[in-house]
Amino acid sequence: MEKMKIMTNRLDRGFYLYQEEFEKKAVEVLHSGWYVLGNEVKSFENEFAKYIGSKYCVGLASGLDSLWIAFRVLGIGAGDEVIVQGNAYIASVMGITINGAVPVFVEPDEYYNIDVDKIEEKISDKTRAILVVHLYGQASNMQPVMDIARKYNLKVVEDCAQSHGACFNGKMTGTFGDIGCFSFYPSKNLGAFGDAGAIVTDNERIADDIRVFRNYGSEKRYYNRIVGANSRLDELQAGLLRVRLSHIAELENDKKMICTRYLEELKNDQIQLPQIRKNATHIWHQFVIRLDKRQELIDYLAERGIDTMIHYPIPPHLSEAYQYLGMHRGDLPVTESYAETVLSIPLYNGMTREEQDYVIETINTFQ
Ligand SMILES: Cc1ncc(COP(=O)(O)O)c(C=O)c1O
Repeated sequence: MEKMKIMTNRLDRGFYLYQEEFEKKAVEVLHSGWYVLGNEVKSFENEFAKYIGSKYCVGLASGLDSLWIAFRVLGIGAGDEVIVQGNAYIASVMGITINGAVPVFVEPDEYYNIDVDKIEEKISDKTRAILVVHLYGQASNMQPVMDIARKYNLKVVEDCAQSHGACFNGKMTGTFGDIGCFSFYPSKNLGAFGDAGAIVTDNERIADDIRVFRNYGSEKRYYNRIVGANSRLDELQAGLLRVRLSHIAELENDKKMICTRYLEELKNDQIQLPQIRKNATHIWHQFVIRLDKRQELIDYLAERGIDTMIHYPIPPHLSEAYQYLGMHRGDLPVTESYAETVLSIPLYNGMTREEQDYVIETINTFQ
């Protein structure tokens, strides 16, 4: 095998796939003379809501904004607790804590999503919501989550930053809870060319509140109903997202084909491959394997030109930012063992068959 250089992600490939359309749209927006909250944003919001199967979509500046603004308009803050899985991305947890609420961590299941059997034991009289993070692109076990939320009268917020288009029981993530939060960070399955995010909801009041909140709390220029933020989606990102959204089925299929090959052709006893839950779909934001000899595999692949990443090496409860929660190593053994053993291998739209072959063959020769 001849040595190749393979990065974990190649955002340029995603651009070249539809280069002409992206360039045409960018020039169109530049010529329009209207750059923030205009027709591109409105059209994207309508198209994305329709795609997800929600009544409303509100474009925002980032995924993190979509999370903290979601909790803010739900009135969840100081004195409240929010249940979230221990192996969430740290931004998911920041969405809770920016408002002064306290994250209460639940261990993940074997699909890397929240272990629904461990939620009820963490519910207290301060619990107000469950934040479900559909990690790596696979839908979480939503039926039990919704049953528990109903039983204890809790809000449900879904972090769909990694799960655009993933379904549970044929229904898309983002449509189960009160609010679905999305990031369109460039590396996401639906990626912009800069920062961008959105919320979806079926609740008109929530959509209105967030629409007002994102623009300094104003409905009418210079009339401010509440203290808000500047979290507006810009026209250029919205226009480029519309182009990408029009191709989302092909993009999803392309990643699915690569990951089907990985699932069928990666054969190495030291590696645990990702599993897919019955009734759930996986849109393969990341292809995450697990192994004890992780550092050896990282070094072995790096020597052969293959980059890898760890999502995520430090779980939120052990990060410096959350020392104030007073948690320690050993408090979440499953979460911590995942942090020590997970590894994301190269995966991106436009990955060539030769690149896939090289990754598969190299991993298969690791001893
Ligand atoms: C699960 C999850 N939540 C939240 C975020 C935050 O999104 P953003 O980077 O757009 O702020 C990300 C991505 O970065 C994410 O993967």
